[in-house]
Amino acid sequence: MRLSDCHNFDDFRRLARRRLPGPIFNYIDGGADDEVTLRRNRAAFEACDLVPSVLRGMSDVDLSVTVMGQRLALPVYLSPTALQRLFHHQGERATAAAAEAHGTMFGVSSLGTVSMEELARKHRNPQVYQFYFHKDRGLNRAMMQKAKDSGIKVMMLTVDSITGGNRERDLRTGFAIPFRLTAAGMAQFAMKPMWGINYLRHEKFSLPQLDAHIDMKGDTLTIGRYFTEMLDPAMDWDDVAAMVAEWGGPFCLKGVMSAADARRAAEIGCTGIVLSNHGGRQLDGSRAAFDALDEVVQAAGDRLDVMMDGGVTRGTHVLKALSLGAKAVGLGRYYLFPLAAAGQAGIERALTQMTAELQRGMRLAGARRVADLTRDNLRFRPA
Ligand code: LAC
Repeated sequence: MRLSDCHNFDDFRRLARRRLPGPIFNYIDGGADDEVTLRRNRAAFEACDLVPSVLRGMSDVDLSVTVMGQRLALPVYLSPTALQRLFHHQGERATAAAAEAHGTMFGVSSLGTVSMEELARKHRNPQVYQFYFHKDRGLNRAMMQKAKDSGIKVMMLTVDSITGGNRERDLRTGFAIPFRLTAAGMAQFAMKPMWGINYLRHEKFSLPQLDAHIDMKGDTLTIGRYFTEMLDPAMDWDDVAAMVAEWGGPFCLKGVMSAADARRAAEIGCTGIVLSNHGGRQLDGSRAAFDALDEVVQAAGDRLDVMMDGGVTRGTHVLKALSLGAKAVGLGRYYLFPLAAAGQAGIERALTQMTAELQRGMRLAGARRVADLTRDNLRFRPA
């Protein structure tokens, strides 16, 4: 199987699975507990149907949107995700460059493996900085200052990870950073020698957003332990209001799921929210963002930009979310499997396919621009 055999999300996932050691594939692929929310995220889009309008003269289609003050050529952006150089040696460099080539925004994670400064210096497309609120206030201040100094405009604070989700696949494989593995996990690494050679041939693993503040020498850190030990579960609306004021620019909360919290976010000055359950990786049994979208847009869509992520594998999923009033839709695994499969070329191929699906879908649905998509384009099936 090669990159040219990949025509959709599942193809890229299959190729990534062949290339990656099992513990890493399962870290990306997995969710929390019974993975109910992980499955629901994808299924949610199938509970409703598009209602096309015909004979509208659809020669030109405009996919651009403005979200958080940023003009994007596409209504999708690459969500911040952790540890990308573990998936492919190009890591975040591939993600940023592919997003730039397609005129869209990308996120860089607090747990990124390339520095936000480098990415901001090299790329002109909008970059979001994903912030985790640490117990160590000095670390928080330093990260915020670095983001400002780098010229990053959009801050995205993750609010759904104040403690680690129960990711049983990671417990079984022993996935941790840099690396500690169970015997079974070790055997899975031995089966992918090409990955190992590539990993060792490139720059040493590091977490540049954090490494001035944490000492990982001789130790490993599971994602669960990082969330549970280093993030502050006491974070509240007052803390965030102070951060919003200090940042002084576009600020969004990722992981808001209720209408009441969306209204509260607007009250403290947030300019956006991302409805998200962290790809089903945190609170299992929580709702899919798509299911919550309509009521949240009704409640707060006139006061802030509502985005969403989770389970998006098709252009038509994005069209459904836009029809309910999402301003833009975040992609996670959708670009991570292509990254793992083929680096920047993989992500570019996936984004080219997404663009083609969006253009085709808009034409067939009868929407010339994103603003033409409304709730009238959707019908929900009776349960
Ligand atoms: C995860 C974090 C790091 O879901 O975002 O693994």
